[in-house]
Amino acid sequence: MEIDKSAFIASLGGPAAADSMNPEAKADALEDFMMKELNQHKFGLALKGLNEPGIALDALGKYPTMAEIEAQIETRAYRRGVGNLFLSHTGSVPKLPPMPARPTLADYFKQRFTFTGNHVLQSANLAMKNGLSEEIILACLLHDTVQELIKVDHGWWSAQLYEPYVSEKVAFAIRYHQALRFYEDKAYGYEYPEIYRMFFGEDYKPEPYIEAAYQMVRNHKWYFETRMVTVNDLYSFEPGVNPQLEEFTDIIGRHFRQPKEGLGFDNSPVAHMWRSIATPDRPL
Ligand SMILES: [Fe+2]
Ligand SMILES: [Fe+2]
Repeated sequence: MEIDKSAFIASLGGPAAADSMNPEAKADALEDFMMKELNQHKFGLALKGLNEPGIALDALGKYPTMAEIEAQIETRAYRRGVGNLFLSHTGSVPKLPPMPARPTLADYFKQRFTFTGNHVLQSANLAMKNGLSEEIILACLLHDTVQELIKVDHGWWSAQLYEPYVSEKVAFAIRYHQALRFYEDKAYGYEYPEIYRMFFGEDYKPEPYIEAAYQMVRNHKWYFETRMVTVNDLYSFEPGVNPQLEEFTDIIGRHFRQPKEGLGFDNSPVAHMWRSIATPDRPL
């Protein structure tokens, strides 16, 4: 077990505070805790445990039901689908550094993708190690970054954000990785993520639109590419490996059409989405 349970309990304010939290709030706190640990490079294998049976139970107690999750909605000051840039779990959001006049994908990674950056770098690194194609590696590198803007239906949002700049195949894999995450594929060693029982409830069944997307992708010529995003989408970390964006510069150069005006200023149909990530403090 890679999670430092006592450190996690301490981060909640001690055992008494932890006991008073409902399971779903604990699940949110655990995700937050582990992302922070990953970002701080403290525990090499910390996030690997999220997909191993029993670990979520061990750290959190029993799984919530969908009804229990539903009952928590009115206890929060935010909605769960809100993007990371727009939310603080610690009281206040940090002041963001200004973006350059013509921001590149790398600028967004360095200055805005602070919550998701490490996770997607890990995924892309794993895909590269597994000898997958450059397009799959790029899809892994981009797949969750839109969660800085919005989390709900992030596969669809993320594909839209990147569609003008990547191949149709890369956008497809990004869009549908969200749906495929809910369906196992033993041929590729992919199992239902344990942490999803905490996030969605033990009795959760994917909505019809997710099921329909899965059925479509299952028989699509790009199923493999999409499935590979989910296979490499583990919260994994190899000890001593700290992937940097620079390792993917050539792949980005070959497969990402960086607009010369900068992302957010090229008048593309998604430019406003990039600007919203660049300047999330604008009141309107
Ligand atoms: Fe995702
Ligand atoms: Fe992911």
